Amino acid sequence: MARCAVFASGNGSNFLHIQESLHRDPVHQLACLVCDRPDAPVVQRALRGGTPVLPLVYQRDAAGKLDRRTAERGVIPLLQRLQVDCLVFAGFMRLITPTLLNAFPDRILNIHPSLLPRHPGARGLADSIASDDQQLGITIHLVDEGMDTGPVICQQSFTRVSGAAPEQEEQQIHELEHTTYPRVIREFLDTLSG
Ligand code: GAR
Repeated sequence: MARCAVFASGNGSNFLHIQESLHRDPVHQLACLVCDRPDAPVVQRALRGGTPVLPLVYQRDAAGKLDRRTAERGVIPLLQRLQVDCLVFAGFMRLITPTLLNAFPDRILNIHPSLLPRHPGARGLADSIASDDQQLGITIHLVDEGMDTGPVICQQSFTRVSGAAPEQEEQQIHELEHTTYPRVIREFLDTLSG
């Protein structure tokens, strides 16, 4: 058995699919949601699903710089108390520091709505749809200190149909995320529980 924590910042459609998939899993468990925005819809989705929510509180230091290390140091002991084996980022829009990376080495997954290394960053979905790329898709990768730069675990793609509406392509990308990420997470948890 292995346990994961999902980190998310916003809507939580991926979170919902992960939550459902792990509720049905006979072995692995979703320990909690970690969220940096108390008003994000994902918080209510977690609470309705019976998943505990841990806040991740970012503050600015005296120089006005976002203090990511202190926020991470605050949540790590809580994750350890919940016996979390790995972290799953699902629309978590923050970079992390070595503090969190070293607490979960090679145990942090992220999903990104483009075929990395194309279109990294917070506008990855919009940038890939606005591009001339013939293939669109998603990437699931291990997290490192960079922005959407860690080793790729899985990519899924589709060929664009000429004249497709951007909304339709956006939906295709999200559907790929929702069907692929829960499966890859369960496979990753399998490898952790040996
Ligand atoms: C997803 O499309 C995810 O791939 C993306 O945020 C969206 C969250 O949607 N993540 C990134 O862009 C990370 N760089 P959701 O809140 O409905 O799951």
